[in-house]
Amino acid sequence: MKAIILAGGSGTRLYPITTVLNKHFLPIYNKPMIYYSLSVVMLTGIREVIFVVNPQDLKVYRRLFGDGSQLGMDIRYAVQDKPKGLAHGLLVAEEFAEGNNVCLALGDNIFFGHGLPEILKEARKDVETNGGACVFGYYVHDPERYGIVEFDEEGRVLSLEEKPKKPKSNYAVVGLYFYDSTVFEKARKIKPSDRGELEITSVNEEYLKEGNLRVKLLGRGFAWFDAGTHDSFLEAGEFVATIEKKTGLMIGCIEEIAYRNGWIDREQLRKLAEPLAKTDYGRYLLKLADGK
Ligand code: DAU
Repeated sequence: MKAIILAGGSGTRLYPITTVLNKHFLPIYNKPMIYYSLSVVMLTGIREVIFVVNPQDLKVYRRLFGDGSQLGMDIRYAVQDKPKGLAHGLLVAEEFAEGNNVCLALGDNIFFGHGLPEILKEARKDVETNGGACVFGYYVHDPERYGIVEFDEEGRVLSLEEKPKKPKSNYAVVGLYFYDSTVFEKARKIKPSDRGELEITSVNEEYLKEGNLRVKLLGRGFAWFDAGTHDSFLEAGEFVATIEKKTGLMIGCIEEIAYRNGWIDREQLRKLAEPLAKTDYGRYLLKLADGK
């Protein structure tokens, strides 16, 4: 399985901060926002990743992640000329997928919870074994902001709706999707929504119509943030700071995950840590490289 991370978009809900800056480089506590979605992909065990980015940001992404070899990964980039929707972003990466199943991750989503790597790997295996699509639902208090999934009493999916004015449930579909290789023909089939975007919810509806959509719930004990507004951005940063200080462990630390996955060795980790040694982040990595 390969992964596609959507890291373009206009970021208008974070204006004026994002008038000239791409939101994915903004800090969620001690690291750029984009580290969190890359870390989720890495926890799924996926090494081949493409970032879909705006033309003006391509250079900065390349400076940040290069070709990914420093993390034992293969990282590429594709340019989306304009933010025409998540399903459009997916299509931009079609060539890269080469007929593989894909994991699609939104660059402004942050996940935390015990057992997350196992859940991610299960979803990946589910799609690799059974085809179709696997997505996640999460209870929210502001369902108008998201793609919403409605269930019947037996927990079967009844409907999906993007940013409904009158939501039929409080379960948001989070920004992490596992798809079989038919996702691209589905994305080509859908029509732009009223706001003029090719919506990922329309793609998920195609899977639902086929009877091939599984929705797993992320329950109590999981935290999920879409850090795309001023409040949720701040909330996510405060959450990460609190958890990291309390547990002494980092969330979204890509160098640590690469090391624990066995994609880089101790010496490579040390090399990544040394330039950061004046920070708690760097010292954390050095300790890890020392086996402490
Ligand atoms: O966060 C979960 C929600 O994300 C889902 O519940 C919704 O169904 C889904 O449509 C999406 O809604 P948002 O309104 O939050 O999407 P946003 O425009 O913020 O874009 C999500 C990410 O994708 C963000 O990191 C920017 C990137 N993006 C967005 C667009 C529209 C692109 O790379 N290209 C695009 O064309």
